[in-house]
Formats: sequence, C-alpha cells, structure tokens
Amino acid sequence: VSALRRNHKLDAGEYKALLLCKDTDTLNYLQQQAREVALARFGNRIFIRGLIEITNRCRNNCYYCGIRKGNSHIPRYGLSQEEILACCRDGYRLGFRTFVLQGGEAPDIRDEWVVETVASIRREFPDCAITLSLGEKSREAYLRFFRAGANRYLLRHETYNEEHYRKLHPEEMSLNHRLQCLDWLKKTGYQTGTGIMVGSPYQTVDHLVEDILYIERFCPEMIGIGPFLPHHDTPFASFGPGDMEMTLKLLSIFRLMHPAALIPSTTALATLAPDGRERGILAGANVVMPNLSPQGQRSKYSLYDNKASMGAESAEGLRQLEKQLETIGYCLSEDRGDYGS
Ligand code: 5AD
Repeated sequence: VSALRRNHKLDAGEYKALLLCKDTDTLNYLQQQAREVALARFGNRIFIRGLIEITNRCRNNCYYCGIRKGNSHIPRYGLSQEEILACCRDGYRLGFRTFVLQGGEAPDIRDEWVVETVASIRREFPDCAITLSLGEKSREAYLRFFRAGANRYLLRHETYNEEHYRKLHPEEMSLNHRLQCLDWLKKTGYQTGTGIMVGSPYQTVDHLVEDILYIERFCPEMIGIGPFLPHHDTPFASFGPGDMEMTLKLLSIFRLMHPAALIPSTTALATLAPDGRERGILAGANVVMPNLSPQGQRSKYSLYDNKASMGAESAEGLRQLEKQLETIGYCLSEDRGDYGS
C-alpha cells in the first residue's frame, strides 16, 4: 500500500495480492491512505454532476444491461432538446455546474441532433461543463460534439480481457473498437472517463488486474466503477451482485494510482447498500452524480434492478445528500470540478 501511494503503481503480481488480500488492517490502511490522498487534493468537498438520461433506446444487446435492445418489457423514451434544456435549468438553479447527458446508443439519435443539443446547452450555460456518455460514435462525431462545446466523455471499457468481453457482449460488439473510441476521445481533447463493473459475470481477479494495468496506461481523467447488479429481464438475471469490499478496494487503488482523477461514488454502489455512497467517498471517491432526469422517465432507465434515482440519488434530494455527507465530514462543491483545476 505504501509503495502504491509513493509510486502510483505496482506490478501485476502485487495488484493481484492486494485484490486477494483479506487482512482487515491492510484494507483499512489502504482506504485510509486513499482517503488522505483525496482530502489532500480536493479537501472535504465532493463535486456534483447532474445526470440526465436522455434516452433508453439502444441498438446494443449487452447481456448485463436492462435497456438492451432485446428487452421488450420496458417502454422506450427519448427526451426532446427542450426537455433536456429544462433539466439543465432545474439543475443550474439547484447548483449543478456539470450536466451529464447519458443514453443508450439510440439508432434514431443523429449526430447533428447531438451537436445542436450540446450547442444549445453551451449557449445558455457558458459556465457549465457538458459531459457526454452516449457510447461508441465515429471519430468525426466525437470531434463535432467537442467543437459544439462538450468537454468530457464517459465510456467504460467494461473489461480489458477479450475473452471476458465476449461473455458480456454479443458478437457484433468489439473490445478493440471500444478501446479505439477511447483513444479518439482522448486525442480529441475530452477529459475522458473509463471504467468497469465489479463482479460482472465470469470476471476473475486476473481480469481486474488487466483492467488496472490498462487504466494505469490510459490514464483517464475520470474513473467510473460500480458493482454489477442483476436486471431481471436480461440473460444475467440469475447472477449475484458484485461485492462491496472489492468495489471499495478498487476505488482506493485507483485513487492512489491517480491522485487527481475524478472518481464517482456511483449510483450502483448506493443501490447495493444504503451506506454505499458514503463508503465510496471514504474509500477515496470525490464525485457524486444525482439524477436530474424528468421524474416520469426515471424508472424506464433501468440499467439494473432497484436502481436508485430518488432521495439522495436525485437532484431534488440535494439537501438530503448534503446532510448524509455531513455525517461523514464532507460537503458538496458547486465548482465545475474540471480535471486538474
Ligand atoms: N449493473 C451495474 N452497472 C451496469 N451498467 C450497465 N448495466 C449494469 C448492471 N446491470 C453500467 C455499465 C455502463 C454504465 C452506463 O452502466 O458499466 O457503462
């Protein structure tokens, strides 16, 4: 742990040993070191991002995801530009200075529409950061979104192991293409985020080591990790959820590896356990992403079962969130929270 804090990296064998470690003293020390590093860099302030789920339509059929194309049990929706802008206005009033537009890879969303949407948010909110999380697009599209005013892009690689990737995704999808997209995003100039689900079906500790080494090399500005949670209308319905301790361990490792990274305590972690969000922060996370989507649509963006979108996971619940963070000695920041700022 000390070597990781000092050098920001370990070798594969050392990462593996840490991931397998069950010694409570070591694990407490790991968390404490990660928390110290986050506090030294960011103070006790947690950045907030308003998450706007713009569509649950998707052309992909990922085996883990509740909004996969093959799920005919959910009503599909897409927000209009005006609805998205209304979410941003609500969010701005509440104190949000980052808007995250997330959605499935909807066949009916044209690149031009995204460009116009981003440009209209950029015009109305010149002081806000715009983050996109819309999956795999062409290099040209990434560039156009960026020129229209988007600043950041989230695209989890999900797993760096080819064989594991095949077990999570149908044949049409490709790990190589996903990694290609991540390189394009970075080269375009986005603050780029990647990450994984912890405890996804067939994941091994060796896969996690590969993920860590990839993230070490890629050096993303943002790292999103949360536990896998089953969704009842997917092929993975009968798999158990990912492990809290393993998720926290990885959060801490990433914090020590990359002190300046923006690392959210994810909704999935808050869904896994009532105190999940707080535990993520105490393990080194420094971002939360409350839900700013129109309330009537939230339940339809069901990536996994029981996904939290109300209370402290919602934009309206910001005061409640603030209170919960106060109990562990943290507060919300109204800064944009750019990487390196
Ligand atoms: N459990 C946890 N996370 C999930 N995601 C998708 N489906 C699930 C699930 N069942 C995550 C993926 C994706 C992000 C938007 O949500 O990692 O990148």
